[in-house]
Amino acid sequence: MEDHKISMDKIVSLCKRRGFVFQSSEIYGGQAGAWDYGPLGVELKKNIQNAWWKEMTQLHDNIVGLDAAILMHPRVWEASGHVANFSDPLVDCKQCKMRFRADTMDQKALEEKKCPACGGELTEPRAFNLMFKTHIGPAEDSASIVYLRPETAQGIYVNYKNIAQSNRMKIPFGIAQVGKAFRNEIVTKNFIFRTCEFEQMEMQFFVKPGEDDKWFQYWREQRWAFYEKYGVNMNKMRWYHHEKLAHYAKDAYDIEYEFPMGFSELEGVHNRTDFDLTRHTEYSGKDMSYIDQDDNNNKYIPYIIETSAGLTRNLLMFLCDAYEEQNLAKEGEPEDYRTVLHFHPKIAPVTVAVLPLMKKDGLAELAKEIQNDLKEDFVTDYDQSGAIGKRYRRQDEIGTPFCITVDYDSKEDGTVTLRFRDSMEQVRVRREELSARIHSEIKNYKRV
Ligand code: GAP
Repeated sequence: MEDHKISMDKIVSLCKRRGFVFQSSEIYGGQAGAWDYGPLGVELKKNIQNAWWKEMTQLHDNIVGLDAAILMHPRVWEASGHVANFSDPLVDCKQCKMRFRADTMDQKALEEKKCPACGGELTEPRAFNLMFKTHIGPAEDSASIVYLRPETAQGIYVNYKNIAQSNRMKIPFGIAQVGKAFRNEIVTKNFIFRTCEFEQMEMQFFVKPGEDDKWFQYWREQRWAFYEKYGVNMNKMRWYHHEKLAHYAKDAYDIEYEFPMGFSELEGVHNRTDFDLTRHTEYSGKDMSYIDQDDNNNKYIPYIIETSAGLTRNLLMFLCDAYEEQNLAKEGEPEDYRTVLHFHPKIAPVTVAVLPLMKKDGLAELAKEIQNDLKEDFVTDYDQSGAIGKRYRRQDEIGTPFCITVDYDSKEDGTVTLRFRDSMEQVRVRREELSARIHSEIKNYKRV
């Protein structure tokens, strides 16, 4: 009997089959640690990004946005500690040349210096910096080195004074940014979970020292509530409290999600103290302190509470969380499975599919007209090929929450069928009421 549980292989296969995610440079055998987002993947990624951006900037009066350059002055990464500390301990097998991370490999094999793959001798662990290095200009010497940023956060720190001054921001305030980050990861398994090129959604919140613990708690609550709001199954979420802290952190929690390979980090909430701004003051020679006009012109270096989520990792989470193989057979009937993605309608790559029952008798033309009416408000799809049941299943598999079917009655009385993905219920709606009805369904959506 077929296994109807979720697995990473099923997610990878659905992503390729339906155009969410493709292997990078596939025709050349693929590029490890890099993936391409197809038509549905782009929409899904954009929707997750928009939901996060709205949550941060639109719903918080004191958070503004930034889009900093990926290439930054190399001193930034000295100041941040990445040049000295951002490394994994690696060991190599002298025989089969396999490479392992000493901190995550079998510790017995490491102690015995034996390769877990072939039994050959292992080298001593050595620190391998995760930053990608390249050169600016024609000369490839040490003076021209630049790094591809390993986190977006530093772009925010070096701009914090520009933003505070130009936008008259008063502490506490935040700066949000979404963008690419790069890490030379050695182990890049589990599809898009850990990749060399990925996207982050980071928000840095600047607070008065002494108020950091309160804001740290606030942001933990906010981030948890965000996932709840977008319909994620919260039984699959948990907090992980860091015992071993990064060089910049005073306290850190991860939100972990139960991916098919087990609970793994989705997002981090960190109290970074005044570490980064103090270091940038030291390394740049520019004073990064803040004069608090609401507190007797007190001068201090703000503490920073960071919320740092992977956008591409979120996309994987939303896919895994939405995925279901659902048996539609009634008792006594043979099994009949549909694959369905229960995306929140604001996250789903396509919101509405318009399907004429038949191509002929003017139904296709009418369906196209209806699709055109809805295009301004929603991402729509149109499908006229195959039996209507099959077309519903195709839309279920990509997570389209609403299907509109145009039939012979539509020509007579101006109504259409509106079908709901999760319940598969169908109602008749007047054509001119469709947009308002769908808007209201989205607003009131609750995942069952
Ligand atoms: N600015 C802090 C920072 O970068 P991090 O825990 O290293 O913290 C934050 O990364 C988030 O970025 C992670 O929770 C994860 O979602 C995402 N992330 C980190 N490395 C990644 C990788 N190699 N591939 C995909 N996502 C990654």
